[in-house]
Amino acid sequence: MQRIPEPFRIKMVEPIKMISAEQRRQALERAGYNPFLLRSDEVFIDLLTDSGTGSMSDKQWAGLMMGDESYAGSRNYYHLQETVQEIFNYRYVLPTHQGRGAEQILFPAIIEQRGCQNPVFISNYHFDTTAAHVELNGAQAINVATPQAYDTTSPYDWKGNFDLGKLEATITEHGAANVAAIITTVTCNSTGGQPVSMENMRAVYQIAQRHGIPVVIDSARYCENAWFIKQRESGYQDRSVAEIISEMYQYGDMLTMSAKKDPMVNIGGLCCIRSDEELFRQVQVRCIPQEGFVTYGGLAGRDMEALAVGLREGMDEDHLSYRIGQVKYLGDLLLEAGVPIQYPTGGHAVFVDARILLAHIPGDKFPAQALANALYLEGGIRGVEIGSLLLGRDPATGLQKESPLELLRLTIPRRVYTNNHMEYVASCLAAVKRRAESIRGLSFSYEPPLLRHFTARFHSS
Ligand code: F0G
Repeated sequence: MQRIPEPFRIKMVEPIKMISAEQRRQALERAGYNPFLLRSDEVFIDLLTDSGTGSMSDKQWAGLMMGDESYAGSRNYYHLQETVQEIFNYRYVLPTHQGRGAEQILFPAIIEQRGCQNPVFISNYHFDTTAAHVELNGAQAINVATPQAYDTTSPYDWKGNFDLGKLEATITEHGAANVAAIITTVTCNSTGGQPVSMENMRAVYQIAQRHGIPVVIDSARYCENAWFIKQRESGYQDRSVAEIISEMYQYGDMLTMSAKKDPMVNIGGLCCIRSDEELFRQVQVRCIPQEGFVTYGGLAGRDMEALAVGLREGMDEDHLSYRIGQVKYLGDLLLEAGVPIQYPTGGHAVFVDARILLAHIPGDKFPAQALANALYLEGGIRGVEIGSLLLGRDPATGLQKESPLELLRLTIPRRVYTNNHMEYVASCLAAVKRRAESIRGLSFSYEPPLLRHFTARFHSS
């Protein structure tokens, strides 16, 4: 079968400009060797994140013009509610300003409802803000991803899966009454945008039900996960993405969603509950002071309209074929050039294994951050470190936590860059690889106490 090329025409463009090598050197020095602190106009190709960076369609832009900005009862809220109910079959729908807004109103309500003494949340892998909201609520965030996820060099179709044995053991260790919830992250961002199989989602839900523990589906990339199930899992080839999504959400009780990813809006989130009305009432109470009244939750009416449209556009199978195909295209170019990556490639990004590429730089000298800087200097490309720097220190001992992976994430915004851009990125990384031994590690010149990767500053060491 022919691979689907871009299933869209481009009718508006945003010019981007490359600054000179000397200007890039100065910019990076000024940014303290932390690409987060660059100005975006110093970046030529921005692969920092796929969050809020997608291109909206003509229908989404048209939706913006249909915004009903009533404080209460906006018609756009009802459109959004109906859309969510149809796709996920979850009854209760709260819009939030973004994914972390959903986390901040849901997690304390779950802990309170379950009356946990020493609460823990167990996930395949908590995204960093997800773990932060768990910890802000006095709970522990425990990751039990499958061990294959940590071996970038051997292919495995389901590197987003839970290790079911470890999940059971962790429940036994802490006691089911202390497990506030299990969080199934689809796709699993932190292990490489890797999918969770339907079989694994189903098994996790069965375990949860047996212990009376609720399951939250962290849903930023629900469409991409469904696409992988359709491609890879036996019995799903002839099912539509819509049907697959509908089954995936039977294996959860609530969902949080950063709508800035698969639904391709620049801002927005969702917090939805399948049927627990009592919990919904408690979450509503938190929504009003923290996010906004329950029919807007921090969004403008127009944002909710664009989201209602985007929730369906993200599920379009031609779009997903092109989208996942583009990420794979970049991954294949890098493999051809001998650049080590998490394989097979995931849904939203290619993750370069800096521990292999820059084997001479130890974890506490941040090899993936050094690689990010080298790539910026080479070609004005901004990626993001997912490794020791992001993981941070153990709050109890103050020591750097041991990171299972040192990755540079090249995150592909949706419908934004062409395959020519991908070829350029691959050729720049190949050039960086050729001078890999000359790249040096980094030490802090400023280390913030929390969420340090955003504002830290460095010097060469
Ligand atoms: N969950 C997952 C799996 C995410 O990837 C993100 C955000 C969030 C929750 C939080 O959502 O940003 O809308 O508040 N991920 C972005 C990223 C920031 O770059 O991967 P948010």
